[in-house]
Amino acid sequence: MEKKKYKRILITAALPYANGKIHLGHLAGAYLPADIYARYQRSKKRDVVFICGSDEHGVPITITAENEKTTPQAIVDRYHQLNKDAFQKFGMNFDNYSRTSLPLHHKTAQEFFVKLHGAGILKEKIEKQLFDPKANMFLPDRYVEGTCPKCSSPDARGDQCEKCGTFLNPLELLNPKSKISGEIPIVRETSHWYFPLGDFQARLERYIAERDEQDGWKENVLNYCRSWFTEGLQDRAVTRDLNWGVKIPVKGYEEKVLYVWFDAVLGYISSTKELSNKLGNESWKKYWQSDDTKYVAFIGKDNVVFHCIVFPAMLMAWNDNSEVKYVMPENVPANEFLNFEGQKFSKSRNWGIDVHEFLEKYPADSLRYALAVNLPELRDSDFYWKDFQARHNNELADILGNFVNRTLTFAHKNFKGCVPKLSQLSDTDKTFISELENKPKTVSESIEKYKFRDAVLDTMNLARAANKYFNDSEPWKTLKQNPNQCGTTINLCLQAVRALSILFEPIIPFTSQRIQNIMNIDNSKDCLDWDTASKIELKEGHQLGNPEILFAKIEDEVIQKELNQLTPAAGSTNSQTLELKPTISIDDFKRIDLRVATVISCEKINKSDKLLKLKISIGSDERQVVAGIALHYQPEDLIGKKIVVVANLQPTKLMG
Ligand code: MF3
Ligand code: ZN
Repeated sequence: MEKKKYKRILITAALPYANGKIHLGHLAGAYLPADIYARYQRSKKRDVVFICGSDEHGVPITITAENEKTTPQAIVDRYHQLNKDAFQKFGMNFDNYSRTSLPLHHKTAQEFFVKLHGAGILKEKIEKQLFDPKANMFLPDRYVEGTCPKCSSPDARGDQCEKCGTFLNPLELLNPKSKISGEIPIVRETSHWYFPLGDFQARLERYIAERDEQDGWKENVLNYCRSWFTEGLQDRAVTRDLNWGVKIPVKGYEEKVLYVWFDAVLGYISSTKELSNKLGNESWKKYWQSDDTKYVAFIGKDNVVFHCIVFPAMLMAWNDNSEVKYVMPENVPANEFLNFEGQKFSKSRNWGIDVHEFLEKYPADSLRYALAVNLPELRDSDFYWKDFQARHNNELADILGNFVNRTLTFAHKNFKGCVPKLSQLSDTDKTFISELENKPKTVSESIEKYKFRDAVLDTMNLARAANKYFNDSEPWKTLKQNPNQCGTTINLCLQAVRALSILFEPIIPFTSQRIQNIMNIDNSKDCLDWDTASKIELKEGHQLGNPEILFAKIEDEVIQKELNQLTPAAGSTNSQTLELKPTISIDDFKRIDLRVATVISCEKINKSDKLLKLKISIGSDERQVVAGIALHYQPEDLIGKKIVVVANLQPTKLMG
């Protein structure tokens, strides 16, 4: 089939729930690949819009609000801002970061519902649902917990069993319990609108096959879709008995809202509309409603069904019933998951690191690079601190940073900080030039196929080749023996530094900017588009800026500290099955005197590898306590730290 030509590219990245801080797993799943892709396309001078925002509805948010005794709005306000900031620090270059609690979004989602409802596509069904008699409300799926009917895991959620992955209906749970009151729910009838996904199955299968042929879908994504199709698509309720969400403009549904996924995917459209409003134009229509737009939706694997099946079906249903038609995703390059030091990220087990915390300590580009070489593109991958350190030290600092630094330093020392003349080319020079000339093309090919790991390796290989070229050319020798040849070497090395700043921009944009500052080149005056990276563009005599160290090494102690901080109890596999102790009464609790203490001194206890002896101060009084944490903390790390102690525990003698 002939490849379709596109005039513009619409890129979306999954809207994260404004219900918690994003962590490295989110970045590796959807956001970093999307950002690399968007930056690359901009560098190719294509018409691009890159859209994201917070997903602010759904049961996890109302549950968090209840747990914290606050409102859902307060929760989403907090996490929207936190995540927006984290993305910015990470260098995400979204054109717009919206939120689904905006009236503009509610209106957009309602329009969709009304269109599908008015066209008679949605079906109303009366169904049985679990009702919490104490809280006097219906319990949406995640408000119920119980035993998984498939694998007997005792803490399956109403919508899914985390243990075996089975999608569930709350009614299927054994021993269901309300998460709100802890009561055993009763079964009651309620009515909901359903989207008939099954009616769209044949078209969806064709849609995916065609797009795959056009743009090469990832095998993991195709596999997920195939398994859904094999199972057969079922009707899906698009309304919920809740009051936090998008209201349903249909009589009798005043007390219900749209199912979060029905409105969330439309958040991409409303975010683009919001951008248009800010810019005072109507460009959202050009991106969403012209069939020469290429739409690419970046997500993590848990969102595949919604982006490859539910959302396209909703768009088909709209398009069947409207003059103006929406584009559908051309590709959905979903990644698998990133784990952290061999285990799943887990907020509740405090396993992992959030983006803010990470970026307070380490440069965004080092994280971007370490994640990019290790993206879970085809299967799950892991973030390891040691690997992060090695990528930063051995690749960014020793290969890229070193090459840029030695080239600039040499030019300053021997050519007055100017680009020397390019003279006659040796074979070594010619080989290096052809490598340089080829690079933008090969990296492009990888990126266009969503093979970001390959793209990063390929780009770093240019820096490797450049170092080798520098070494092989021995400019420190030719400086005296053959100054023209020395000038040629340094000229070509400087051309390579420029090329690296362009080709690395999608991956490490902050560093790319710094290199361009050092090189005294600037995208607004000098053309630094992708395709110019292959060219000998720097002119003889161009004045360079001063070199600076791009990447300071990360020391072993720093990484060791990170490793020591991992909460081992939470991290060990045991913890997942750690049983709760029997419930205690409020009176029991009142008898425990918890105090914040400061660690004054701390040392290992001889003959024990687990115990530390701590001297602590609780306000007026000083105490000695023993803690079984020596495997996880160095004594010196604890000095000065605040800890919580049970101040009225009976004294006892331990190990003498
Ligand atoms: N909030 C969802 C999640 O974090 C993703 C929503 S993507 C959207 O898993 F398309 F629905 F916006
Ligand atoms: Zn299960």
